[in-house]
Amino acid sequence: MQQRKRLDSDNHIETWSLPSLLGGMSTDYFASDFLDKNYLCVKGGLGREQADALFSLEKLDRIITSSGVNNPQVEVIKNGTVERSPSLRTARGFLNVPYVLSLVNEGCSIRIRSVDDIDPEVADLCRDLSKELNANIAANLYFTPYKQPGFNPHFDDHDVLIVQTAGKKKWKIYSDYEGATALPPRGQVFEKEVNAPGHVLDEFVLSVGDVLYIPRGMMHAASAEDDGSIHLTLSLNWTTWAEFLFELVATEVMNNDCYRKTITDVHFRIGDISGDTLSEAQKLIQNLSQEEYIRNCAADIRHSYIQKVKAPTIRSLTSLTQRAWSMPNSRIRLRNNALYEVTKNNDDVPEIIVHGENVALGPTGKQLIEELIGGAELSVGAIIQQHGEESQSLVDSLLAAGLVEIC
Ligand SMILES: [Fe+2]
Repeated sequence: MQQRKRLDSDNHIETWSLPSLLGGMSTDYFASDFLDKNYLCVKGGLGREQADALFSLEKLDRIITSSGVNNPQVEVIKNGTVERSPSLRTARGFLNVPYVLSLVNEGCSIRIRSVDDIDPEVADLCRDLSKELNANIAANLYFTPYKQPGFNPHFDDHDVLIVQTAGKKKWKIYSDYEGATALPPRGQVFEKEVNAPGHVLDEFVLSVGDVLYIPRGMMHAASAEDDGSIHLTLSLNWTTWAEFLFELVATEVMNNDCYRKTITDVHFRIGDISGDTLSEAQKLIQNLSQEEYIRNCAADIRHSYIQKVKAPTIRSLTSLTQRAWSMPNSRIRLRNNALYEVTKNNDDVPEIIVHGENVALGPTGKQLIEELIGGAELSVGAIIQQHGEESQSLVDSLLAAGLVEIC
């Protein structure tokens, strides 16, 4: 796959990719040598200026201190755990900014969960990576004040990619932990009383632009160095073999009546199994390995992912206020990071699923979509001229759904 690292006129990354975070390391090399296996620290993986543009202290300041912030995503971390004090919110439910700042002054950290929901640059980063890696990716932001601990030693049930965007943070990676499970399944939580960390395997400081990958299940801890530290933690939710096979079995065994038959073997009912029943079980399991079932399952997983992805409508308002929205002299193109699926509805009419929205296409719409997917930049005026006035509302729908943008 071609490595993409396009910079816009302000020297910011226009299209994010894993190599653009890992100092040019190819995604294939990362997958073969580090994914699921080992942590990876890339010094200067991202340029200093690009890291700063991604998330600065000023940006955090704006989000936290804006009066009337009613944002349940903002949390305070005290002594390594999430602070639950009711004083964090005012009686009207807004963030109690003076109280939050007093806690920061005492050394508490701030976490903004799903910061990609509220910040356009981080949203672009997550969406581009999601598209490249075919994984669900979201971002939390952490601010830790001067020389304070962040989180105590723990492991996560998903892979993380940490991007240092301000200050410095010291990280510790541990060799192992009590009761360790290799590649813990989603939902397996760290238990402080049970999972005591082993010895420190490595210790290093992340500076602005450094990037760290930690596979799920690897014990780690962090604390700020001088100045306040800001880092983004991207959660990488790939599909595992276990999840894939679970989905395949769950779908196919319920859809096919040969699996719904009763097991008649009397021995089976008393906890034993006859030779015939064993052969039948093996035959049914073998039957599940058909290529058609495997392809259908992969398509189902992709489909449910597309249904859940949030629309990338960021900057649509700018287009609208510049009066460029769907005017005859506007040109549209497919959004670089759009996630979609072209399909047919129950009446066999072509439609496109974009971020959970189903947009009916019809024959002209299908042709239009194919041209856009092929990379065409189309003038709205020319589209209307070719496909009639009704194509205007289709263009509006595609713009609103975030599939296309004004170029
Ligand atoms: Fe963690």
